[in-house]
Amino acid sequence: MSRGDGVRDGVLDKGAAPHLAGIPVHVGIIMDGNGRWATARNLPRVEGHRRGVEALRRCVRAAREIGIRYLTIYSFSSENWSRPVGEVSELLGLLRRFLRHDLAELHSANVRVRIIGQRASLARDLCLLLDEAEALTRDNTGLTLVVAFNYGSRQEIADAAAKLAADAVAGLVKPEDITPDLLESRLSTAGIPDPDLIIRTSGEQRLSNFLLWQAAYAELVFLPIYWPEFDHAALLSAVQEYARRDRRFGGVAARTGS
Ligand code: FPP
Repeated sequence: MSRGDGVRDGVLDKGAAPHLAGIPVHVGIIMDGNGRWATARNLPRVEGHRRGVEALRRCVRAAREIGIRYLTIYSFSSENWSRPVGEVSELLGLLRRFLRHDLAELHSANVRVRIIGQRASLARDLCLLLDEAEALTRDNTGLTLVVAFNYGSRQEIADAAAKLAADAVAGLVKPEDITPDLLESRLSTAGIPDPDLIIRTSGEQRLSNFLLWQAAYAELVFLPIYWPEFDHAALLSAVQEYARRDRRFGGVAARTGS
């Protein structure tokens, strides 16, 4: 049923709300609050992460239904290694299980998987799983699911700067030719459009080293629910909030003229 705001049967009606105007092309999500969700229920924190994977499945399905083209999820930050060993190993195990159990389904749903973050320090079997997920789904044309794992934005930017410095030393690029576009081409997200919308659950309001360069003009929406509670309605509410925002990219509002 259409609600008069471009939403029909829980899906943004692209006829009523043109894709560019109403639906973000790229949504980034900081999946926060697994531990608090579990603690509030007297459950171990890892149970919150397990429920978090179920929320992730709901989120991917909802993103496809709504018509989002790119979904980037922050599933393990480079700072998360400082957590207790048991929790880290559970998170690594959840990624392994997610890739083993869900890859075939993602592939048949035409989802393209990309992984960003540092792989050098990850176990070999996990690296092989990441490679396999990317290789199998490389030519898919539906939703691109970008999994940020062992990811930290400052490190990503430093790595891009190091690549440019090496190119400069090799005489391939002149320092004066280094532009934002050139640096962007060395980021792990090269080829992926900048996020239009970044959602963080749990009520916390910060980016925590997630897509700092790419989020320069992203709209930020903070949802007062824990990640395990995330569902289609939550994603849709964030998209609707985004659709109400007036994006100016440093210019003036379209409706006020030049
Ligand atoms: C933040 O909650 C969440 C994480 C650090 C990990 C996110 C992981 C998942 C949603 C499941 C794993 C998915 C994959 C694909 C590996 P928190 O633990 O910081 O919660 P808290 O702030 O309440 O303690």
